[in-house]
Amino acid sequence: MRGIAITLGLVCLQVMLSSTVQAQFGSATRPQVAMPDGPVRNIILKNCVACHGIDDYAFHALTRERWTDLIEDRHEGLEMTRMSRRDRNTLLDYLAETFSEENTPFPRQYVPPEIDTYYEEEQGLLVLDTMCTECHALDRVYETRGSIERWRVLLLEMRGRGAFFESNEEMERMAEWLSRVQSANLFE
Ligand code: HEC
Ligand code: HEC
Repeated sequence: MRGIAITLGLVCLQVMLSSTVQAQFGSATRPQVAMPDGPVRNIILKNCVACHGIDDYAFHALTRERWTDLIEDRHEGLEMTRMSRRDRNTLLDYLAETFSEENTPFPRQYVPPEIDTYYEEEQGLLVLDTMCTECHALDRVYETRGSIERWRVLLLEMRGRGAFFESNEEMERMAEWLSRVQSANLFE
């Protein structure tokens, strides 16, 4: 009996695992926005997380004025907490700074391509030394660890800031390589 239960359990687990993989495969990549520190953190927690998360902010890259309009437009007719003028200003400063018109909005529909060739050490290092050092030192890269999903989001952000990848496939290969050499540390 026990043996059957365990076998059934394993089968269920396998079905579950393969359906998650299938659900993820071919679906759009979502932005990941880290909750900011400082006074704005509490303002967001108090006023902005009851209905949706903060990741969606990254779909926009706007001036302060256009942020003001967007927040007003999207919440018209909804029951929103009343914010003091000061809190409102702090929030708009954060939005306009973090998702400024100088960035590129995170793509709403980015579906990662399938790849069947992978970077070797030299190819990954070459991209790091040529492309990634254009804007910052590599300690940023070496301080970051993550899954392929995390690296894909990061590289999409870098592309939004001006990093030039020849194609989505090249970007995906880099994300895959980074997820091996700077893999998520399971023991953190
Ligand atoms: C009462 C529920 C509610 C609260 C609270 C709320 N939102 Fe929203 N928000 C919505 C809904 C619903 C939409 C989608 C509206 C639409 O698509 O037209 C939305 C859309 C947005 C969008 C656009 C997202 C996109 O995909 O383009 C942004 C940005 C946003 N909200 C930011 C905020 C911020 C910042 C706060 C805090 C001040 C906040 N929201 C609080 C309900 C809420
Ligand atoms: C066009 C300029 C530019 C290029 C090219 C670029 N980056 Fe960045 N990168 C930035 C900026 C700006 C930040 C700081 C963003 C911030 O602090 O919000 C950053 C931050 C980072 C971070 C830290 C992000 C975090 O959330 O902690 C990592 C990791 C990173 N870059 C990796 C890379 C890699 C890998 C490449 C090469 C494939 C690359 N970058 C190429 C502009 C660039």
